Amino acid sequence: HQADPRKLVQDAQAGGYAVGAFNMHSDETAQALVRAAEIAEAPVFLQVGRAIVPHMGLKAAYELTRRAAEESDAEVVIHLDHGPWDEVFEAIKLGFTSIMYDGAHLPLDENIRTTKQVVQVAHSFGIPVEAELGTIPDAGEDVDWSAYYTKVDEAQRFVEETGVDWLAVSAGIVHGVVPDLPPQPLDLQRVEQIREATGLPLVLHGMSGVAPDDVQGAIKAGVHKFNADTDLRHAFRAGLESVFAQGDRQLEEALGEGRARMIDATVEKMREYGVAGRASS
Ligand code: G3H
Ligand code: 13P
Ligand code: ZN
Ligand code: NA
Repeated sequence: HQADPRKLVQDAQAGGYAVGAFNMHSDETAQALVRAAEIAEAPVFLQVGRAIVPHMGLKAAYELTRRAAEESDAEVVIHLDHGPWDEVFEAIKLGFTSIMYDGAHLPLDENIRTTKQVVQVAHSFGIPVEAELGTIPDAGEDVDWSAYYTKVDEAQRFVEETGVDWLAVSAGIVHGVVPDLPPQPLDLQRVEQIREATGLPLVLHGMSGVAPDDVQGAIKAGVHKFNADTDLRHAFRAGLESVFAQGDRQLEEALGEGRARMIDATVEKMREYGVAGRASS
């Protein structure tokens, strides 16, 4: 069933853990995330993200996710991930109960101005808003971190002026995984300073390929929603590949194995985040 997104994050903050937020890409992957939540007895954010929207359209992705959520006893939030300007309003109309508006590419004043408008509309429907400040690079990009990091004073101003519910910060983690590159050390001190300056639960994106110590450190520093995608997509793909490696097998068999591997990988993340066993019923 659908759950109250604010409560899930508040409970995580009070309980000293982080809720997992994972991207759906198809029927089977949405089912895998919900099934993992049932097995781990964990609440979960199902995210409709940047890959699925051009593939099937926002409405179809929403309907599929809603059906997966409502057929289950698990506590599920249907969340728009990295929503651009027009899409956040479309998502609110469709019935998403949680949204991220991503204005991180805009100059600070523009990010503040547009985020504030999104918050006003979303809050009038009771919907919480996650925003991004600082830039989260893609794996393999050669970036100057001093320009990408979220700055503490800007975060304080951003939160005061926009009224967002949760803030996604840039502190050394990238979207995706580069297997041969050592992970950039996470700047936990910065995360903690942002938490103190803003008082909000923080979000970290790009949690695939992050060292276990950093996962635990991030929770202690004030992060209570973790976004992960790549590790779970890789698990799904490994399932497909293992079946097709045996020859010309039924597509359903491959999709089933992909789903099974993704369930296991998601349960593992939920245990690591401390959210396993936190379902309220
Ligand atoms: O990315 C968002 C646009 O800058 C929105 O600007 O509030 O003038 O439509 P607007
Ligand atoms: P990863 O693919 O690195 O796990 O990042 C996912 C994400 O942040 C989705 O918003
Ligand atoms: Zn992200
Ligand atoms: Na990552």
